[in-house]
Amino acid sequence: MVTDIAGYVASVFMRGLPFGFVPSSILAMVDASIGGKNGIDIGLYKNLVGTIRQPEFLLYDASLLKTLPKEEWVNGFAEIIKHASVKDAALFRELEKNRLAFYQKDKAALTKLIRRNVVIKSDIVQKDEFEQNERRLLNFGHTLGHAVENLYKLPHGHAIAIGMVVASMISEQYADFKNSDKLIEVLKRYGLPTLAEFDARKVMAVLKMDKKKEKDAINYILLNKIGHAIVKTIPIVQLEKMILSIINSR
Ligand code: GLY
Repeated sequence: MVTDIAGYVASVFMRGLPFGFVPSSILAMVDASIGGKNGIDIGLYKNLVGTIRQPEFLLYDASLLKTLPKEEWVNGFAEIIKHASVKDAALFRELEKNRLAFYQKDKAALTKLIRRNVVIKSDIVQKDEFEQNERRLLNFGHTLGHAVENLYKLPHGHAIAIGMVVASMISEQYADFKNSDKLIEVLKRYGLPTLAEFDARKVMAVLKMDKKKEKDAINYILLNKIGHAIVKTIPIVQLEKMILSIINSR
Protein backbone atom coordinates (compact mmCIF):
# COMPACT_ATOMS: atom_id res chain seq x y z
CA MET A 1 0.00 0.00 0.00
CA VAL A 2 2.85 2.39 0.82
CA THR A 3 4.63 1.82 -2.50
CA ASP A 4 1.34 2.18 -4.38
CA ILE A 5 0.33 5.45 -2.76
CA ALA A 6 3.84 6.93 -2.87
CA GLY A 7 4.28 5.91 -6.51
CA TYR A 8 0.84 7.22 -7.43
CA VAL A 9 1.27 10.61 -5.78
CA ALA A 10 4.76 11.00 -7.24
CA SER A 11 3.42 10.06 -10.69
CA VAL A 12 0.70 12.70 -10.76
CA PHE A 13 2.10 15.57 -8.65
CA MET A 14 3.31 18.29 -11.04
CA ARG A 15 2.70 15.74 -13.85
CA GLY A 16 5.23 13.41 -12.30
CA LEU A 17 8.31 13.45 -10.08
CA PRO A 18 11.11 10.87 -10.00
CA PHE A 19 10.75 8.46 -7.08
CA GLY A 20 12.36 5.33 -5.68
CA PHE A 21 11.56 2.67 -3.10
CA VAL A 22 13.37 1.23 -0.08
CA PRO A 23 11.12 -1.77 0.63
CA SER A 24 10.99 -2.94 4.25
CA SER A 25 8.62 -5.91 3.97
CA ILE A 26 8.93 -9.21 2.09
CA LEU A 27 5.84 -8.35 0.05
CA ALA A 28 7.30 -5.03 -1.06
CA MET A 29 10.73 -6.56 -1.77
CA VAL A 30 9.52 -9.40 -3.98
CA ASP A 31 6.51 -7.75 -5.56
CA ALA A 32 5.10 -4.30 -4.75
CA SER A 33 8.30 -2.30 -5.40
CA ILE A 34 8.85 -3.86 -8.80
CA GLY A 35 6.83 -3.18 -11.93
CA GLY A 36 5.75 0.44 -11.90
CA LYS A 37 2.03 -0.07 -11.34
CA ASN A 38 0.91 2.50 -8.80
CA GLY A 39 -2.76 2.01 -8.03
CA ILE A 40 -5.28 3.05 -5.43
CA ASP A 41 -8.55 1.35 -4.54
CA ILE A 42 -11.91 3.00 -5.06
CA GLY A 43 -14.42 1.55 -2.61
CA LEU A 44 -14.33 -2.20 -3.07
CA TYR A 45 -12.48 -2.06 -6.38
CA LYS A 46 -8.76 -2.71 -6.27
CA ASN A 47 -6.33 -0.41 -8.04
CA LEU A 48 -9.11 1.17 -10.08
CA VAL A 49 -7.21 4.44 -10.43
CA GLY A 50 -3.53 4.35 -11.13
CA THR A 51 -0.49 4.92 -13.28
CA ILE A 52 2.32 2.86 -14.72
CA ARG A 53 5.51 4.71 -13.94
CA GLN A 54 8.74 3.01 -12.96
CA PRO A 55 10.73 3.89 -9.83
CA GLU A 56 14.15 5.45 -10.52
CA PHE A 57 15.82 3.18 -7.99
CA LEU A 58 15.18 0.28 -5.60
CA LEU A 59 17.34 -0.08 -2.51
CA TYR A 60 17.27 -3.37 -0.61
CA ASP A 61 18.54 -4.05 2.91
CA ALA A 62 17.50 -7.43 4.36
CA SER A 63 18.27 -6.20 7.90
CA LEU A 64 15.11 -4.07 7.67
CA LEU A 65 13.19 -7.35 7.99
CA LYS A 66 14.44 -7.91 11.55
CA THR A 67 11.42 -6.08 12.96
CA LEU A 68 8.86 -7.39 10.47
CA PRO A 69 5.89 -9.00 12.27
CA LYS A 70 5.26 -12.69 11.52
CA GLU A 71 1.96 -12.00 9.71
CA GLU A 72 3.82 -9.76 7.25
CA TRP A 73 6.32 -12.54 6.52
CA VAL A 74 3.39 -14.82 5.80
CA ASN A 75 1.80 -12.18 3.56
CA GLY A 76 4.96 -11.84 1.50
CA PHE A 77 5.31 -15.57 1.01
CA ALA A 78 1.98 -15.66 -0.84
CA GLU A 79 3.61 -13.73 -3.70
CA ILE A 80 6.74 -15.92 -3.53
CA ILE A 81 4.56 -19.03 -3.85
CA LYS A 82 2.75 -17.33 -6.74
CA HIS A 83 6.02 -16.66 -8.58
CA ALA A 84 7.07 -20.28 -8.11
CA SER A 85 3.68 -21.55 -9.28
CA VAL A 86 3.60 -19.57 -12.50
CA LYS A 87 7.27 -19.50 -13.46
CA ASP A 88 9.69 -21.57 -11.41
CA ALA A 89 8.99 -25.25 -10.62
CA ALA A 90 12.44 -25.64 -8.99
CA LEU A 91 11.66 -22.80 -6.60
CA PHE A 92 8.32 -24.48 -5.81
CA ARG A 93 10.19 -27.69 -4.89
CA GLU A 94 12.52 -25.67 -2.64
CA LEU A 95 9.53 -24.10 -0.90
CA GLU A 96 7.98 -27.56 -0.43
CA LYS A 97 11.10 -28.66 1.49
CA ASN A 98 11.57 -25.61 3.71
CA ARG A 99 9.53 -23.59 6.15
CA LEU A 100 9.12 -19.92 6.99
CA ALA A 101 11.30 -20.27 10.11
CA PHE A 102 14.19 -21.50 7.93
CA TYR A 103 14.18 -18.32 5.81
CA GLN A 104 13.71 -16.16 8.92
CA LYS A 105 16.87 -17.66 10.46
CA ASP A 106 19.11 -18.15 7.42
CA LYS A 107 20.03 -14.75 6.01
CA ALA A 108 21.92 -16.18 3.02
CA ALA A 109 18.96 -18.36 2.00
CA LEU A 110 16.58 -15.44 2.46
CA THR A 111 18.70 -13.06 0.39
CA LYS A 112 18.95 -15.69 -2.37
CA LEU A 113 15.19 -16.21 -2.27
CA ILE A 114 14.45 -12.47 -2.50
CA ARG A 115 16.94 -12.04 -5.35
CA ARG A 116 15.40 -14.96 -7.25
CA ASN A 117 11.94 -13.45 -6.91
CA VAL A 118 13.15 -10.00 -7.96
CA VAL A 119 14.65 -11.56 -11.09
CA ILE A 120 11.43 -13.48 -11.89
CA LYS A 121 9.29 -10.36 -11.62
CA SER A 122 11.65 -7.85 -13.20
CA ASP A 123 12.38 -10.17 -16.17
CA ILE A 124 8.67 -10.39 -16.90
CA VAL A 125 8.09 -6.65 -16.45
CA GLN A 126 11.01 -5.78 -18.72
CA LYS A 127 9.56 -7.95 -21.46
CA ASP A 128 5.97 -6.75 -21.04
CA GLU A 129 5.71 -3.53 -19.01
CA PHE A 130 2.15 -2.76 -20.11
CA GLU A 131 0.74 -6.22 -19.47
CA GLN A 132 -0.14 -7.26 -23.00
CA ASN A 133 1.26 -10.78 -22.76
CA GLU A 134 3.43 -12.53 -20.21
CA ARG A 135 2.92 -10.03 -17.39
CA ARG A 136 -0.69 -11.16 -17.16
CA LEU A 137 0.54 -14.43 -15.65
CA LEU A 138 1.52 -12.54 -12.50
CA ASN A 139 -2.19 -12.03 -11.85
CA PHE A 140 -2.49 -15.70 -10.85
CA GLY A 141 -4.74 -15.76 -7.77
CA HIS A 142 -5.39 -12.03 -8.00
CA THR A 143 -8.71 -11.95 -9.88
CA LEU A 144 -10.73 -13.60 -7.15
CA GLY A 145 -8.12 -12.61 -4.56
CA HIS A 146 -8.65 -8.89 -5.12
CA ALA A 147 -12.42 -9.33 -4.89
CA VAL A 148 -12.31 -11.12 -1.52
CA GLU A 149 -9.53 -8.86 -0.20
CA ASN A 150 -11.67 -5.75 -0.02
CA LEU A 151 -15.03 -7.46 0.54
CA TYR A 152 -13.78 -9.33 3.60
CA LYS A 153 -10.92 -6.99 4.63
CA LEU A 154 -8.33 -9.75 4.30
CA PRO A 155 -4.57 -9.18 4.27
CA HIS A 156 -3.38 -9.18 0.64
CA GLY A 157 -1.40 -12.43 0.96
CA HIS A 158 -4.33 -14.27 2.54
CA ALA A 159 -6.69 -13.12 -0.20
CA ILE A 160 -4.23 -14.11 -2.92
CA ALA A 161 -3.71 -17.52 -1.33
CA ILE A 162 -7.46 -18.16 -1.46
CA GLY A 163 -7.51 -16.83 -5.04
CA MET A 164 -4.71 -19.23 -6.02
CA VAL A 165 -6.56 -22.22 -4.54
CA VAL A 166 -9.73 -21.36 -6.49
CA ALA A 167 -7.70 -20.72 -9.67
CA SER A 168 -5.91 -24.05 -9.28
CA MET A 169 -9.24 -25.86 -8.95
CA ILE A 170 -10.55 -24.09 -12.05
CA SER A 171 -7.27 -25.18 -13.71
CA GLU A 172 -8.16 -28.81 -12.99
CA GLN A 173 -11.29 -28.38 -15.11
CA TYR A 174 -10.07 -25.93 -17.76
CA ALA A 175 -6.43 -26.92 -18.16
CA ASP A 176 -4.26 -30.00 -17.61
CA PHE A 177 -3.52 -29.20 -13.98
CA LYS A 178 -3.52 -32.02 -11.43
CA ASN A 179 -1.65 -30.57 -8.47
CA SER A 180 -4.05 -28.38 -6.47
CA ASP A 181 -3.21 -30.53 -3.46
CA LYS A 182 0.50 -29.62 -3.74
CA LEU A 183 -0.28 -25.91 -3.95
CA ILE A 184 -2.63 -26.16 -0.96
CA GLU A 185 0.08 -27.97 1.05
CA VAL A 186 2.69 -25.29 0.34
CA LEU A 187 0.30 -22.46 1.21
CA LYS A 188 -0.52 -24.18 4.53
CA ARG A 189 3.19 -24.78 5.18
CA TYR A 190 3.79 -21.01 5.11
CA GLY A 191 0.80 -20.21 7.33
CA LEU A 192 -1.54 -19.07 4.56
CA PRO A 193 -5.28 -19.81 4.42
CA THR A 194 -6.56 -22.02 1.64
CA LEU A 195 -10.28 -21.57 1.93
CA ALA A 196 -12.70 -19.02 3.22
CA GLU A 197 -16.41 -18.78 3.59
CA PHE A 198 -17.50 -16.20 1.10
CA ASP A 199 -20.64 -15.21 -0.74
CA ALA A 200 -19.95 -16.19 -4.35
CA ARG A 201 -22.56 -13.76 -5.70
CA LYS A 202 -21.09 -10.76 -3.88
CA VAL A 203 -17.62 -11.81 -5.02
CA MET A 204 -18.83 -12.12 -8.62
CA ALA A 205 -20.34 -8.60 -8.48
CA VAL A 206 -16.90 -7.19 -7.54
CA LEU A 207 -15.10 -9.48 -9.94
CA LYS A 208 -17.15 -8.13 -12.83
CA MET A 209 -15.42 -4.77 -12.29
CA ASP A 210 -12.00 -6.38 -12.71
CA LYS A 211 -9.75 -4.46 -15.11
CA LYS A 212 -9.00 -7.71 -16.94
CA LYS A 213 -12.66 -8.15 -17.94
CA GLU A 214 -13.36 -8.18 -21.66
CA LYS A 215 -17.04 -7.80 -22.52
CA ASP A 216 -18.71 -10.82 -20.88
CA ALA A 217 -15.57 -12.79 -20.18
CA ILE A 218 -12.56 -12.60 -17.91
CA ASN A 219 -8.99 -13.48 -18.78
CA TYR A 220 -8.30 -15.88 -15.95
CA ILE A 221 -4.81 -17.09 -15.11
CA LEU A 222 -4.64 -20.85 -14.75
CA LEU A 223 -1.88 -23.42 -14.30
CA ASN A 224 -1.08 -26.17 -16.78
CA LYS A 225 1.45 -27.50 -14.32
CA ILE A 226 3.48 -26.12 -11.42
CA GLY A 227 5.82 -23.51 -12.93
CA HIS A 228 3.72 -23.01 -16.06
CA ALA A 229 0.76 -20.62 -16.19
CA ILE A 230 -1.58 -19.82 -19.05
CA VAL A 231 -4.27 -17.23 -19.77
CA LYS A 232 -7.76 -18.57 -20.45
CA THR A 233 -10.72 -16.44 -21.43
CA ILE A 234 -13.69 -17.69 -19.43
CA PRO A 235 -17.25 -16.37 -19.88
CA ILE A 236 -18.45 -14.73 -16.65
CA VAL A 237 -21.60 -16.91 -16.54
CA GLN A 238 -19.47 -20.05 -16.64
CA LEU A 239 -17.02 -18.67 -14.09
CA GLU A 240 -19.84 -17.90 -11.68
CA LYS A 241 -21.15 -21.47 -11.94
CA MET A 242 -17.69 -22.88 -11.41
CA ILE A 243 -16.89 -20.69 -8.39
CA LEU A 244 -20.27 -21.58 -6.85
CA SER A 245 -19.61 -25.30 -7.31
CA ILE A 246 -16.08 -24.99 -5.86
CA ILE A 247 -17.41 -23.19 -2.77
CA ASN A 248 -20.32 -25.60 -2.32
CA SER A 249 -18.04 -28.64 -2.64
CA ARG A 250 -15.87 -27.51 0.31
N1 GLY B 1 3.92 -2.00 -8.22
C1 GLY B 1 3.70 -3.35 -8.38
C2 GLY B 1 3.61 -3.79 -9.79
O1 GLY B 1 3.83 -3.02 -10.69
O2 GLY B 1 3.29 -4.94 -10.05
